Amino acid sequence: MATQISPASGRDKFVGSAQNRVDGPAKVTGLAKYAGEFTSENLAHGYVVSSAITKGRITAIDSAAAEAVPGVLKVITHENRPSVAGEAEAYQDMVAPPGAPFRALYDETIAFSGQPVALVVAEDFDTARHAASLVKVSYEAQTPHTDIAALQDQSYDPPEKRGGIKTPPKPWGDASAAFDGAPIKVSEQYRIAHEHHNPMEPHASTVVVEDDGTYTVYDKIQGVANTQMYLTNAFGLKPEQVRCLNPYLGGGFGCGLRPQYQLFLAMLAAQDLGRSVRVVLTRDQMWSFTYRPGAIQTVSLGAEKNGVLQSLKHDALHGTSQFEDYQENVVNWSGILYRCDNVELTYRLSKLDTATPGDMRAPGAVTGMFALETAMDELAYATRIDPIQLRITNYTDTDPVEEKPYGSKALKDCFVQGAERFGWAKRTPEPRSMRDGKELVGWGMACGIWEALMMESSAKVTLTADGRLEVGNSTGDIGTGTYTILTQIAADALGLPMDHVTTKLGDTDLAKAPVAGGSWTAASSGTAVMKACRNVAEQAFKLARGLEGSPLANVDFDRIVFSKGRIEAAGDPSRGVALTDVLKASGQDRIEATETANPDKDFAKKYEAYTHSAVFAEVKIDEDLGIVRVTRIVSAIAAGKILNTKTARSQIMGAVVMGIGSALHEESMLDHRLGRFMNRNLGEYHVPSNADIHDIDVIFVEEEDKANPLGVKGVGEIGIVGTAAAISNAVFHATGKRIRDLPITVDKIL
Ligand code: MOS
Repeated sequence: MATQISPASGRDKFVGSAQNRVDGPAKVTGLAKYAGEFTSENLAHGYVVSSAITKGRITAIDSAAAEAVPGVLKVITHENRPSVAGEAEAYQDMVAPPGAPFRALYDETIAFSGQPVALVVAEDFDTARHAASLVKVSYEAQTPHTDIAALQDQSYDPPEKRGGIKTPPKPWGDASAAFDGAPIKVSEQYRIAHEHHNPMEPHASTVVVEDDGTYTVYDKIQGVANTQMYLTNAFGLKPEQVRCLNPYLGGGFGCGLRPQYQLFLAMLAAQDLGRSVRVVLTRDQMWSFTYRPGAIQTVSLGAEKNGVLQSLKHDALHGTSQFEDYQENVVNWSGILYRCDNVELTYRLSKLDTATPGDMRAPGAVTGMFALETAMDELAYATRIDPIQLRITNYTDTDPVEEKPYGSKALKDCFVQGAERFGWAKRTPEPRSMRDGKELVGWGMACGIWEALMMESSAKVTLTADGRLEVGNSTGDIGTGTYTILTQIAADALGLPMDHVTTKLGDTDLAKAPVAGGSWTAASSGTAVMKACRNVAEQAFKLARGLEGSPLANVDFDRIVFSKGRIEAAGDPSRGVALTDVLKASGQDRIEATETANPDKDFAKKYEAYTHSAVFAEVKIDEDLGIVRVTRIVSAIAAGKILNTKTARSQIMGAVVMGIGSALHEESMLDHRLGRFMNRNLGEYHVPSNADIHDIDVIFVEEEDKANPLGVKGVGEIGIVGTAAAISNAVFHATGKRIRDLPITVDKIL
């Protein structure tokens, strides 16, 4: 069982409540600075020239016209770039998949559309951009292959696993024989489109050359430890030579997990020119790296007439680049969400002439659960069993793969509370049976699942003589509310008001923490902050007890509370002393502690940790126009302790909006003749706008979990999983037409 590190105050005041973002005012007033907004004296600006072909080689680059533009400092290409570490492996970062990471301006080879072929550095941005348009690049082009459907025969099982990726479990039972013998069968192919993240803030890096020759690097990244690791690897620098910062991010969704080529180019130019350089990518250029790979999947379900699953097969195929084996957990969910005696899960990749795909909010689960949960709805219709009942029939409280119970799994409560709030009991199951005037009405539901992860993470906490607390580590707040929840945890632990706590994040000079991803940050950084606060509390108490005539002389640590800036005997507030007086009387100007939190190995030996959800969707469809409106979503979430009901709700709402996007709108369209994504802007790549979004109702069901002392499981990703399936199931209920290919656009409805 988890070692309990309870808040020293012994009571939650801010944790579990609705709190505004502590970084909100800075963000809405423009005080918050992003990677492309930091500046320095003598800052030069780089603009990337992107390849006009997808595959082949550069035969010549003529930069003369660009270099002749007044204000241009240099045009850096593969022909004149200064040498760097060079080995492909040296460009590794914390979350790189197996393979050889892309090396910008390394040689004449072109491996994907939009690959950077030159960096024009000038005194100002507009000059750099203009000069970039004058760089003449000649190519020898080859035919690119970007269509996974056409490359299915060449798919492969990745030989080397990406860190954190689970190999699909070995099959158990005999899924094929059981499927053949099952009285009820569903076997269909499901597809999702490629998607791009499109955060508001594009990728940018500002490399500042300090007087002592060290670098201060502002990078758009979800964790600066990764920026630092990449730069030390690629450029052969020592960590103390590169301080990396990202105090604020304008959205991540996974596209900021890995350092991107603008970082490499900014450092390359800074070293080459010996001056500070900023490189900002355009929206168009953000289509030249990392995307959610579209996938082709087959799910086959065999069941008894009473809905009991007899056979479950799930096969998935998606693309990766020619140079890295990018992988996701796509099919594994199908082995653990339901109980079935005959299961076969298979997962393959195909090499495409694109950039390496990357993690996009709930990578793998969005893909796999769309297929599984649509197939479950098809089975519900085939067996004439209510979709919720079908899921309860096949429910499991233990992970069938690991044969371990879930530490907590309140999914049944999600069904009950979600159905109640949605009004599911009023649903008539027949397709096309519900109407609102001219519009068809459809009600559908689906489940979501995501891992409840924790990563080794450190935090430093400092109590100063003025009774204020500073909390910090190097993780990034990618817009999720990390600043706020860490402030709440620390304030409770030391009995201080939240405005006496300052949280600092996103700086490699702070205590080490991993990238913010995988929905693990609340559990990881939260536990580290709690541990460090406990340490500070113990130190403060020791000092207080040792004071002459201390009112706490005979009190033990477990019999005190921290409240209103004081240390007090539990139940007797008159016996106490102010923290400021403790520091003053003991002659100390601060008490500080750095602690590292790790996942609880004993817990992990006995239990599995996942978050779950039940998503209910209402659609209204104009049959003449084929327009689908998602008029209501109820998302009931089981994610352990909710630290801040306001920011957590925002996370789920944002994830639901993204789920509506993947269900109805988002599709990065490849022209296979060119091997190029064509709709590279927010005008042609449709993300949901206000008019697309109606009611989103979030329920957090109560769930107690002991995977970590906070009992928190994370909410960044669970809200998107299952949302697209709930919508596609609602579309079927409304129209009687089963659409197994996302996004569900007008042409597919009509
Ligand atoms: Mo998330 S896709 O791990 O930022």
